[in-house]
Amino acid sequence: MQDALREACALLQQGDIVALPTETVYGLAADAFNPTAVAKVFAAKERPSFDPLIVHIAARGDLKTVAKVPDEIAEIVDKLTHAFWPGPLTLILPRHPDVPDIVTSGLPTVAVRQSAHPVFRAVNKALGHPIAAPSANRFGSISPTSASAVTKELGDRIPLIVDAGACSQGVESTIISIEPRAGKKPVFRLHRAGPITKEQLQEFGKVEKAREAVGQVVLAPGQLASHYAPRTPLILLENPQDFHPEDGKRYGLLSYTGDDDGPYVTLHDWECIEALSPGSGKLAEAAIRLFFVMRTLDEAGLDAIIAEPVSETGLGVAIMDRLRRAAVANKSHPA
Ligand code: TXA
Ligand code: MG
Repeated sequence: MQDALREACALLQQGDIVALPTETVYGLAADAFNPTAVAKVFAAKERPSFDPLIVHIAARGDLKTVAKVPDEIAEIVDKLTHAFWPGPLTLILPRHPDVPDIVTSGLPTVAVRQSAHPVFRAVNKALGHPIAAPSANRFGSISPTSASAVTKELGDRIPLIVDAGACSQGVESTIISIEPRAGKKPVFRLHRAGPITKEQLQEFGKVEKAREAVGQVVLAPGQLASHYAPRTPLILLENPQDFHPEDGKRYGLLSYTGDDDGPYVTLHDWECIEALSPGSGKLAEAAIRLFFVMRTLDEAGLDAIIAEPVSETGLGVAIMDRLRRAAVANKSHPA
């Protein structure tokens, strides 16, 4: 592993890109202060230039090198970063002028987090610069939670994938922006649901949905309705009665527990069943396995993947968000 870390660092230093594990999903890393290197990330992912990247810092003290935290929110930023960093919380803050335009897609803000993954942290620290890293998948595709998933997505396009096994969270970081309120706790705008839940954030402020835009400025350009999509049509079946299978078609079930005591497992003679949290039904396990299970079903040669909903509390909010976005691409395919 030491050799892989050294190689990763050398590649980043020379302006190349590298896939690195984080606790959420694998990221495609570039030196955030090197616009030519960042351009390679956009090219490898085929990501549109209007979709900005998250900047990862090695230490909380590096925040000032990428963001200009206004006085009104300095205290709450301090509280949040002490509570949740290193970890899967991304803050949208006014950007520091040193951050290249290509990283923020020209926005006046920058998205920042500190990864908790020891491998990512080691490379970030050794590089001595912040790392811009989106998820290491082709744009719109399923995020990779293992090195082999990165190989399938981008293997022929990048010089190195550092393999540190499966990611411990499985869904991408929670993204918020902060609006101060005089004499009251601040409002957090939730741009993306993730491992840090609404319930956890509520201790520090009021959580509300992100606004799409203020005036002409689009606030969450990357939060497109269709995302995380397998190539096989995925249908989120919120109501089992709505399933009308066509003769001769092969359907697979993306189940929560895989147990036959609910209505989904017994609804149809499924070609295959993959469970998010086999047997017990735990949301944390379901989040870890979500993209892995989606990928497995995508590779099973099915006509459609039928996904069972999970309860929308805690981590279930992030899971349902990903399932809904995976399903949007396939609205034209009836079950
Ligand atoms: O867990 C994660 O966040 C992973 C790991 C690698 O850190 N990264 C990740 O990056 O999920 P990506 O690029 O797949 O998603 C970043 C999201 C995009 O939807 C992007 O539009 C949004 O963050 N974003 C980045 N900068 C922003 C900004 N200044 N304002 C609003 N949204 C921003
Ligand atoms: Mg992504």
